[in-house]
Amino acid sequence: MLVLGIESSCDETAASVVRDGRVMLSNVIASQIDVHRKYGGVVPEIASRKHVEAVIPVILESLEKAEVTLDRIDGIAVTCGPGLVGSLLVGLSTAKAIAYTQNIPFVGVNHLEGHIAAVFLMENPPVLPFVALVVSGGHTNIYLVEPEGKYTLKGQTKDDAAGEAFDKAAKMLDIGYPGGVVIDKMSKTGNCRKYDFPRAMKDSNDFSFSGLKTSLLNMLKKRSTPLAPEELPDVVASYQEAIMDVLVEKTLRVAVEASVSRVVVCGGVAANSRLRERFREDGDRKKIDVFIPPPVLCTDNAGMIAAAGYTLLKRGIRSDLNLNAVSRWHAARG
Ligand code: KG4
Ligand code: ZN
Repeated sequence: MLVLGIESSCDETAASVVRDGRVMLSNVIASQIDVHRKYGGVVPEIASRKHVEAVIPVILESLEKAEVTLDRIDGIAVTCGPGLVGSLLVGLSTAKAIAYTQNIPFVGVNHLEGHIAAVFLMENPPVLPFVALVVSGGHTNIYLVEPEGKYTLKGQTKDDAAGEAFDKAAKMLDIGYPGGVVIDKMSKTGNCRKYDFPRAMKDSNDFSFSGLKTSLLNMLKKRSTPLAPEELPDVVASYQEAIMDVLVEKTLRVAVEASVSRVVVCGGVAANSRLRERFREDGDRKKIDVFIPPPVLCTDNAGMIAAAGYTLLKRGIRSDLNLNAVSRWHAARG
């Protein structure tokens, strides 16, 4: 079964053709990072316009790279939330138009379920059940994922997402955009034990990152001189470690509590090199198998949407042509 996936929830226009939910035949991503960089964050109105420009060329390229024509596509999967509504609508309306004119079944996919499904594109994917941490620019959620697409929310952030904590810190320190990528790279030469940043809500499986952000702000305010370039790596490495400590500890704890020995970590922040190292080390120690998709499948892409859509389409789930885009929506099918 060939599924065409389409993703446009934030600042990446992406399309991908996936065979049987497992084999990615193409994975085309048009990133808008350079457009938004000068504003220091995603500007929703500009994002929608850029999606309009990119969506058709990106879909055509994904078909070409997969060496298939539309008449070979058995189903279309498209992100319909959560995300920026104006951006989502571009992918969604395009998917509907193709589905309607070509008479192809289509299904709306939850972006978070998409991030989790990226793991099925790996060579040795985990069997269900597993615990999944979805950690991105908009979400920090822990789910217990069980057969038949059952997602139970076990923990979530009470304020900022982990990706936001990265992006806002980089903005405060004026070190570049997008923050997560810059901090990941800069931390490699820093001492992550130099500064003591707070680890919030230790005894809960929920997260809070706003205190961490404030503590960095206070540290900067208290100084009489700005941070020197040579001091930055220690600051960002210590800040990053505070985020990693809570992500790793809480996710593995949920797995132990649920008596599940497999953990999936996905979403843009899962591209972080220290996160990948820490989860492997701590997972080994706790005898928990950790599955993290390759970085290109952690950040937004359409392969993951096609993979998630495949399991829905195979179960006979179809969306109606009046399906709407939604800005907030948990992965929560029962
Ligand atoms: O999943 P994603 O591409 O989009 C959303 O669904 O939000 O995640 C984007 C987030 C941004 O906050 C970005 O800074 C973060 O993922 N990110 C990283 C890294 N690469 C992307 N954070 C830490 N380390 C990275 N290497
Ligand atoms: Zn995402």
